Amino acid sequence: MTGTDTELRISKIRDGTVIDHVPAGEALHVLAILGIDGSGGEGVSLGMNVPSETMGHKDIVKVEGREMSQAELDVLSLIAPDATVNIVREYEVAEKTEIEPPEQVAGLLSCPNRHCITNAGEPVETRFDVLDEGVRCAYCETIVREEITDHLAV
Ligand code: CTP
Ligand code: ZN
Repeated sequence: MTGTDTELRISKIRDGTVIDHVPAGEALHVLAILGIDGSGGEGVSLGMNVPSETMGHKDIVKVEGREMSQAELDVLSLIAPDATVNIVREYEVAEKTEIEPPEQVAGLLSCPNRHCITNAGEPVETRFDVLDEGVRCAYCETIVREEITDHLAV
């Protein structure tokens, strides 16, 4: 199926962010990372399980009037390492970034260990080292392997 067929499913946006090449089934996790639940009023279009020449099937997330922070991109890389983030301005793709896995992610995830210093009510920002098999708290070394988005600190 060609790009044109995809366009028929989800229309172009004027200003905002298109996160393309998201693994099929992960679009709702991408929204969770962005802290979007619909209450903020932004326009959101999702393509889920869209046919893709390179990936078989993929998800696409389009958010109007919103760009992504580096912390959000870092967590995104954990679930969508091959995603492309397109910043759209006046209908044109103004910037296209390939996701790169960071060595650490700061701030967006919370540590599941209740005794961790990051859960003690201190002003300590969470930090996780990125491993092949998941992420590891830089303070207490607890490893989160699966369902990383369940640990979003939002
Ligand atoms: N897009 C959009 N609204 C726009 C411009 C682009 O929703 N005003 C979307 C396109 O539908 C596509 C993505 O942004 O999903 C990237 O657009 P573009 O770079 O034009 O497409 P490709 O060349 O196919 O991208 P890539 O090479 O990254 O696959
Ligand atoms: Zn910890």
